[in-house]
Amino acid sequence: MVPDGRGPDEAAERIAAFIRSLPGDEVRLCLSGGSTPTGVYRRLSDRSDIDWARLRFFWGDERAVSPASDESNYGLARETLLEPVGAAPERVHRILAEKGAEAAASLYDRTLRAHVGTRSGPLFDLVLLGIGTDGHTASLFPGRESEWDGERLAFATDGGEGRGLRVSLTPAALSDAREVWVLAFGAEKSDIVREALDAGRGRALPTDRIGPRSGGVLWLLDASSASELDRGGSPHDETPA
Ligand code: 6PG
Repeated sequence: MVPDGRGPDEAAERIAAFIRSLPGDEVRLCLSGGSTPTGVYRRLSDRSDIDWARLRFFWGDERAVSPASDESNYGLARETLLEPVGAAPERVHRILAEKGAEAAASLYDRTLRAHVGTRSGPLFDLVLLGIGTDGHTASLFPGRESEWDGERLAFATDGGEGRGLRVSLTPAALSDAREVWVLAFGAEKSDIVREALDAGRGRALPTDRIGPRSGGVLWLLDASSASELDRGGSPHDETPA
């Protein structure tokens, strides 16, 4: 847990250190959408201690919009990270959401499978996730568990409540990773963070279904998003950073 306002700096620092710690010439990073990562991506792109030629980029979910749309998770990453660091196009595997959610999900399922088993270790090295105040992560929404069963690595969903069509990786795909980190900063996330980290909680949340090889999900929090934890929330994963 870091002071308010320091979340993106801390996350960028940790991501850079993690990338540097990995052997080999390829680091597979699965990016999150939403607004939280924006500051993280911008800080990452300003760093000089990352060999970006090693990186291969994937996404945990995408809205069924054009990459030019303000809603596009790829578009956000392109502006704040991929273009600034000169990411090689052949190493950027975006979800082709403009083809429609079902078609894009099928194509991405094939893209992911093409990378499974092509090296030792899991599909991803690091998966970055956010969490909505309703408990969704990627485009896995509470109560929609039936969408996530089966063998698929990516699926189409309407997200419910008029959110529009999306493509999401399944919990199984998101778990095929050395590490999974959830970035949650600010007071608006304090309740859902407490609920998500409360082992005695009633309802199921998507993050319950995500278990990386490292054993637990790491929560990168700031003082405000962690502020409810001292009210008895008992982290059932790794201690929030
Ligand atoms: C998306 C994201 C989503 C996001 C959460 C939190 O496409 O919307 O993948 O899962 O991480 O909604 O969003 P904020 O970071 O904007 O709070």
